[in-house]
Parts: sequence; structure tokens; C-alpha cells
Amino acid sequence: MNIVIECQNLWKIYGKIVAVKNVSLKVSEGEIKLLFGPSGSGKSTFLRCLAMLTTPTKGEVFLRGEQLTKENAELDKARARIGFVFQHIWLFRHLTAVGNVELGLKRVLKLPRQKAKERAMKALREVRMEDWANHHPAQLSGGQQQRVGIARALAMEPDIMLLDEPTSALDPELTGEVIDTLRDLAKKGMTMLIVSHEMPFAREVAEEMIFFDEGTVIEKGEPERFFTNPRSERAQKFMARLIKRTRRE
Ligand SMILES: Nc1ncnc2c1ncn2[C@@H]1O[C@H](COP(=O)(O)OP(=O)(O)OP(=O)(O)O)[C@@H](O)[C@H]1O
Ligand SMILES: [Mg+2]
Repeated sequence: MNIVIECQNLWKIYGKIVAVKNVSLKVSEGEIKLLFGPSGSGKSTFLRCLAMLTTPTKGEVFLRGEQLTKENAELDKARARIGFVFQHIWLFRHLTAVGNVELGLKRVLKLPRQKAKERAMKALREVRMEDWANHHPAQLSGGQQQRVGIARALAMEPDIMLLDEPTSALDPELTGEVIDTLRDLAKKGMTMLIVSHEMPFAREVAEEMIFFDEGTVIEKGEPERFFTNPRSERAQKFMARLIKRTRRE
């Protein structure tokens, strides 16, 4: 299988805080992997390092075999091939939904206006937001805003989507619509690395779940194993808490 993104012995250190500790991981074409773990365990920092939105302290990142951590790597080009969806939704308030989605197409990919518009509308259709194309973020619900965020990443036709807790800022009733959007992408064969604690969704779509704690991978394996028989004590405790929470909701 073709490896889309890979990191080897990745570290990110902020002063005395070791946010990411010696992580190696691969995601191949069409795979969906799900990263989860306690707050502050370094999930966001890890994802940002993988997308080279922040520079790793040590270690290597490769995108389709091209080393992004070497000197003179063409990072702008590489970042344009990685769709990133942020934990805290951010859209430009003064632009409409379609304006937000078009921006990277015009600025980064240099598409002409008409072509950018067509591609932005196609991406909005994929997240079922075409009817809201001309609305501003303030006129959209949190779930709708996050779907625009997903469309913005999709429109760039990325090699992989990295999604950092795309539903954590949403009320439970809005979470479902974003999860449905991700489910649609999964069906289309999109390669994704998703930070999420939506366990039924993980069980349904993920090839592999990766449990992260204190900046590093504690355990990884098929979802079924995590649900029935997590090996490490830390994963057992965390899964038990998550399953209890899911039942309550
Ligand atoms: N820019 C930064 N400067 C200093 N420390 C940082 C920075 N970014 C993150 N950290 C620290 O790195 C650690 C990991 O943070 P990170 O946000 O990656 O965790 P997380 O697993 O995504 O947490 P959450 O589930 O709450 O989103 C934390 O101790 C955090 O304070
Ligand atoms: Mg985070």
C-alpha cells in the first residue's frame, strides 16, 4: 500500500514540556486512523507537527516519500496537499461560506476566479452546505461552520485530511451532522487521521485506533480490540470512561 504520510521518531519540546515524545506512525492511501487520549497529551501538537504547521524539535516527516523535515523542503506546496481541520473552528468572519472555501484555491493554488468558485461549490456540496454558500459564519450554526471548515480543506483536493477533534467545540446535537460528513468522506475512500473521542464512529470507520498519553503512543490496534480488550492499564481506564460517557449521551 502506498504510504501517504509518515513520521519517524518525532519530538516536540517547549522548554521543559515534552509535548510529543518519539512518535513514529504511518497512514497509507485510503486508510482511516483515529488518535485519542487525555487532554494535554499532545494530540494537537502532534498533528500540527505532522502537517508542518509547527516545526518538530527532532525527527522526520515524509509526505508521499518526500522529506518535509529537511532543509529547503518546499513546505508551502506540501501544506497545500494536507487538509487540516482545526479543533477550534476558525473561518474569516467577513467572508461568506464559499468565500472562505475559495480563498486557498485562489491564493495558494492560483486558480482563476470561476474555476475556484466551481471547485468551492463542489466541496460545499460534498458537505451538504451548498444552500448556505452565501451566508456568513455568524449566520451558521457551529456544526455548519465546521462543515465549511471541512469543505475548505477538501476543496484543495488534499492527499490526506488531518482532523483535530472536529466535534469537540460543538454541542452534542450538532456533533452528529459533522460525524455524518466524515462518514461520507470515509465512504469515498478519503485518507484521514482524525483526533476524536466519538467512539461509535471510530468503531465503524477506523482501521486503527492509536491511544496517546503523555506525548507518546501507548497502544495501537484495531478498534474491536480497544473495545473488548485494551492491553495497557491506561487505555483500559480511558476506554472505560469514554464508553460510560457515550452511554450517558
Ligand atoms: N505553543 C505552545 N507553547 C508551549 N506549550 C505548548 C504549546 N502548545 C502546546 N503546549 C503544551 O503541550 C502539551 C500538549 O498540548 P496539546 O494541545 O497538544 O494537547 P492535546 O492532547 O491536544 O489536548 P486537548 O485534548 O485538550 O486538545 C500541553 O502541556 C500544552 O500546554
Ligand atoms: Mg488538542
